[in-house]
Amino acid sequence: MRKLLKDIYEVGAIDWDARLFDRLIPLPDGTSYNAYIVKGTEKTALLDTVDPSKTHVLLDNLMQCDIDKIDYIISHHAEQDHSGSLPDVLLMYPDAKVVTNPKCKQMLIDLLEIDSEKFITVEDGETLSLGNKTLQFLYTPWVHWPETMVTYLKEDRILFSCDFFGAHLAASNLFVYNEATVYESAKRYYAEIMMPFRKQINSNIEKISSLKIDMIAPSHGPVHKRPEFIINAYKDWSSDSVKNEVVIAYVSMHGSTAAMVSHFADALIHRGIKVKQYELSTVDIGKLAMSLVDAATVVIGTPTVLMGAHPSAAYAAFLANALKPKTKFASIIGSFGWGGKAVEQLASMIPNLKAEILEPVIIKGYPKDSDFDLLDKLADNISAKHKELNLIDQDNN
Ligand code: FEO
Repeated sequence: MRKLLKDIYEVGAIDWDARLFDRLIPLPDGTSYNAYIVKGTEKTALLDTVDPSKTHVLLDNLMQCDIDKIDYIISHHAEQDHSGSLPDVLLMYPDAKVVTNPKCKQMLIDLLEIDSEKFITVEDGETLSLGNKTLQFLYTPWVHWPETMVTYLKEDRILFSCDFFGAHLAASNLFVYNEATVYESAKRYYAEIMMPFRKQINSNIEKISSLKIDMIAPSHGPVHKRPEFIINAYKDWSSDSVKNEVVIAYVSMHGSTAAMVSHFADALIHRGIKVKQYELSTVDIGKLAMSLVDAATVVIGTPTVLMGAHPSAAYAAFLANALKPKTKFASIIGSFGWGGKAVEQLASMIPNLKAEILEPVIIKGYPKDSDFDLLDKLADNISAKHKELNLIDQDNN
């Protein structure tokens, strides 16, 4: 249990050991499932619960806070890392009502079999009085599910944002103490689950822009006492602007594609372009996703195996397509032994990338001088495209 302000406590759980979220997303620094108690003079509200694996921590914290009665449990989001303890909390506090929007109510019924009688549904902008404190509910759909909403505590000017502005970061401090560390974790989190919805995220940032916010209290990671730090980071990530960067995601079986990638990366660097290179059989996909947030160009490198692209390259293409980065240009490089359809396969897997496809470089066997020339031409092409967008002059690396 950690105190934010008088009568406001964080009662969730720090998950130091979590290393994978959704059986997909690496969590190098663990995470937290924040839940908050707000005590008014007349009513007490719990904002979100925790992952079912940490229910005992939440219940212990509620006892430590001497919470003998909860009137409302605000559910911002039905995903189980925030809603999973609801059934147990309702058993412990049987008079509590679950306050949420109609869409989230139905999801909680479907996912957790909560009795429909337990709910109070609220409209966008509706308020709920706790006596001397007022909660206002704002729908913020698609951060990152359709039912997501946030709560603004008017008197204390705190925005409880659930996943929005969150960071997968286990930390004993309640408040952000090192913005650079939180920036990394928040960007990773944005890249992994928010990026596909960046247009909606823009709208939701706009929606909260009229609020006077002193703190943003997300349901993952530390609480922001300088809200503009995380709001500005989100504005940058979700904007249309890209950076003078090329992400090279590659895999090589016998060294031919690796030799191409090595030459190509050097060629880009010599042209003043920043390179982020990832070997796909060992990559941290969170790092790769983070790089896709900003990069103007993505190049996938693949050998030909089983008559097509290497499965690791196909996985990267599938993931990039799902994440919908704002990448402007894309290409493919690689080598084959006797033939195959690697380029056609990979190109067909990225329809969500609204990127211009630059002439791929697919060669036979180990690269020769003439193949390196083709890679230099691709680097020239990328350099010209970045210059057209004024990226190279803006960013001197
Ligand atoms: Fe943290 Fe979408 O759950």
